[in-house]
Amino acid sequence: MQKIRFDFNPMMAEFVGEHGISGQEMKDMLAELKAAHETVEKNRGQGMQGWMDLPYDQDDVVAEIEKTAEDVRREFEAFVVLGIGGSALGPAAVQQALNHLHYNELPADKRPGPRLYIEDNIDPERMAALLDVIDLKKTCFNVISKSGGTAETMSQYLIVLQALKEAVGEDYRRHLIVTTSESKGFLINVAREEGYKTFYIPDGVGGRFSELCPVGLLAAAVCKIDIRGLLEGAKDMDARCKSSNAMENPALFEAGLMVKAMEKGQNISVMLPYADSLKLMSDWYAQLWAESLGKNRTLDGKPCNVGQTPVKALGVTDQHSQLQLYTEGPFDKVITFLKVDAFRCQTPIPHGCEDIPTISFLGGKSHNQLIEAERQGTEYALYRAGRMCQTIALPEVNAQTVGQLLYFLELVTAYAGALLNIDAFNQPGVEESKLAAYAVLGYDSEKHNQKREEMKGRPSLKPEYQF
Ligand code: PA5
Repeated sequence: MQKIRFDFNPMMAEFVGEHGISGQEMKDMLAELKAAHETVEKNRGQGMQGWMDLPYDQDDVVAEIEKTAEDVRREFEAFVVLGIGGSALGPAAVQQALNHLHYNELPADKRPGPRLYIEDNIDPERMAALLDVIDLKKTCFNVISKSGGTAETMSQYLIVLQALKEAVGEDYRRHLIVTTSESKGFLINVAREEGYKTFYIPDGVGGRFSELCPVGLLAAAVCKIDIRGLLEGAKDMDARCKSSNAMENPALFEAGLMVKAMEKGQNISVMLPYADSLKLMSDWYAQLWAESLGKNRTLDGKPCNVGQTPVKALGVTDQHSQLQLYTEGPFDKVITFLKVDAFRCQTPIPHGCEDIPTISFLGGKSHNQLIEAERQGTEYALYRAGRMCQTIALPEVNAQTVGQLLYFLELVTAYAGALLNIDAFNQPGVEESKLAAYAVLGYDSEKHNQKREEMKGRPSLKPEYQF
């Protein structure tokens, strides 16, 4: 199996100078890192760490997913994921990584599966636009919600259900697959009553850690992605990160670096893939890192306000947008390059414009060379500016390397949570906005009515601040 590699040199003071982390600082942290490793290992497969078992305990589920995927490919022209947050970002990232960059636009005979749409927003125009481009008679919907109570997903379900009933009558059940918790929430009851094909999200797997369970695997398998390869990659990364000695465990070392960086005021984590195929990995990572580590209470209840703001960027595009800030702005960022050694195709640059040396120089080279040269140029510019950087290199983007990357970042997040002594697996800060939104919509329950009253207590808006 090809292995992803890590280069943490440009995080270190020896490399980038005063804003870097010294070797001694990392040595001093080794005992703390060992303890974080123990905490994570102790809870492996327990509580909300069920995601750590996913590479190992899904043989039957994978077989069932593959069988269902085959049926979907045979019967439908479009597959629509209805889900949000952890139920959407992983499927989107993996599809972008492992299928054609214009997958949906490919003619059917060149596409390995149905067109895939991942609908993670409730912008009214978006649902209308979706219904404009799909033929309901030939579309399968995968409703994904662990809680079964997420307003966005459940409202989408209601809209789609009605549309399907109008389009296909009693046959609508064949067009719906539900992925939800087996033991909690309302969606499982709906699925049982209706007799929908159902996949389960294990109790110990939270949304942002769910890509390697049916949440992500079904859409991937429908689009003919090698889901066994994804899981093998994850397993391989797990094996690489077994040691409690951070010098032998890349995810543990990385967690240590990032937490140390946070202590030094580097409060922003920029994910900068130099590959369009990895563009949506940044979106997936942003949720994983933000929702897991952004907390205001330690595990022992002490106030804290920790976390690091993830920024999604893309090389080379953002060299022409954000790089100026990264090189000359505040020293508040860690930049993580995602580098691909071998792209899946070569794009040679033809000769031309021979009388303009700066352009003709490009002739005979390739986009493969140019993107790598620009990546190295950016890395050098950041080095010269004394900025903390690191590189994760994928020999190529395939199911196994993507599985390694996903699991690596999940492990880093878990270790970082343990180092920060916070619960990396909950998201209490998201609940407040959900409650308030239902209160605004007029939901009648004691807690929503109270919230509505509380909301009236906000200071009134002053006209002098409105234009
Ligand atoms: O990571 C998480 O837990 C969240 O982002 C959830 O995935 C998101 O809120 C959707 O929740 P649910 O799957 O319950 O609909």
